[in-house]
Amino acid sequence: MAEFQTNLAWDTLLELGEGRDGPLHARLSGALRDAIRDGRLPAGSALPPSRTLAGDLGCSRWVVTETYAQLAAEGYLDARVGSGTRVRPLGQHEEAGRSPPAVAPARAPRIDLAPGLPDLRSFPLARWVAALRSVTSTLAYAELGYPDPAGHPRLRQVLAGYLARVRGAQADPAQVTICRGVTDATHRVGQALRAAGIGAVAVEDPGWHRLRQAAVAAGLRVVPVPVDGQGLRVGDLEDHPDVRAVIVSPTHQFPTGVVLSAERRGALLAWARRVDGLILEDDYDAEFRYDRRPVGTIQGTDPSRVALLGSLSKTLSPALGIGWVATPPAWTGPFRDTVGPPAAPSTLDQLTFAEFLQAGAYDRHLRAARKRYRLRRDRLVSGLAERLPGARLLGVAAGLHLLVLLDDTVDGAAVVSRAATRDMRVANLDTYRVHDDRFGPGLVLGYGNLADGQVEEAVALLATTLAECRRRGAPASYP
Ligand SMILES: Cc1ncc(COP(=O)(O)O)c(C=O)c1O
Repeated sequence: MAEFQTNLAWDTLLELGEGRDGPLHARLSGALRDAIRDGRLPAGSALPPSRTLAGDLGCSRWVVTETYAQLAAEGYLDARVGSGTRVRPLGQHEEAGRSPPAVAPARAPRIDLAPGLPDLRSFPLARWVAALRSVTSTLAYAELGYPDPAGHPRLRQVLAGYLARVRGAQADPAQVTICRGVTDATHRVGQALRAAGIGAVAVEDPGWHRLRQAAVAAGLRVVPVPVDGQGLRVGDLEDHPDVRAVIVSPTHQFPTGVVLSAERRGALLAWARRVDGLILEDDYDAEFRYDRRPVGTIQGTDPSRVALLGSLSKTLSPALGIGWVATPPAWTGPFRDTVGPPAAPSTLDQLTFAEFLQAGAYDRHLRAARKRYRLRRDRLVSGLAERLPGARLLGVAAGLHLLVLLDDTVDGAAVVSRAATRDMRVANLDTYRVHDDRFGPGLVLGYGNLADGQVEEAVALLATTLAECRRRGAPASYP
């Protein structure tokens, strides 16, 4: 627990007055003793140099040195030349019950096949720190004020160049806004749509439920449109004349893994022009296509009809909370005008990412990540083919997840709960559908954060779990 606490104790509140008698050094000793015992000063905390504390308390330095010597003699403090005066670990029996309650991080299952995470162990920490160091060494103090709600101009500029170079986008930095991710962007575009009198948005069914939720939170009515082997069934939009906006993930649809066909891309743009509507293009998984180069963005074909949404959640880490939107000029103002919590991520993080990108570290990281994920996917696919010969895999060789279609005798929810008893997490396709059941039961397997050494074990466990679910039949037989 101490790892979550600061180990510098210079600003600890010391109560020297109320309830304490005697000379000042005795009162200071009592106050420090109390702070150590009740955990405000945890083991390892460095106390201020005696001159500093004396200055803060307005007393002579002798009072502080006398106090430190007394507490060192009592075993509370450790005074070493060179490392200053630190709080000693208390005996186990003393520590129990005195420390503040621990906030334990949620434990991930031992085998985690839930979709959602990139390989966290491969976060390019050294290069990220180098970018941060480079940024902070030249940072103007003025940059430490409130961030520009549109995003830092340097990142907008660098990112626009990247999106044009790698994603074929027509990204003008003036129309690029830095936000916290695709979910945040969807919510805010949703608010802008609502303010413009557009009350309904079409979504892919099945599709990522968080984007549906973001649209609903923005006050929009969500209209599910089925997905088939060519992606969103664009023709079905004609059945909903009140819909003038659509959220679509053309490069690697979640969770089916299909790519929006060239014909449907054209049809989607034609629809948007006809209804004077807006396409929210979620550029999901665009960085990770393994069998060929990914298709470019729809936004690159007609930036006046498309808001291009992206984030670092799958390429670096969702913990960064950095995303972007390239809006058609007519939508940039309404998007930035949406009200809510502070919109832009930390300026330091934005500048670090800009530096990281400019230094070529992002391209290098993605190249290495693509290779790693492709190998992992290949191993997973061949393992599944061997151990689950009846299972059908859907989707192109891309991204960080697979869809495994099951036969009708298996219930996805039963597999999920059975897997949980084995400390394994998988996702049920049902989680992502609204009405559509054309794909039947299925499991969505994320391999982004699966350790390479766990692939075979994960497949074997999954095969055993599925065999049990088939044998036992009814899902109700599982806890
Ligand atoms: C389809 C889809 N789009 C986008 C994202 C990324 O969302 P965010 O940037 O809010 O983390 C995800 C994350 O899982 C996703 O599944």
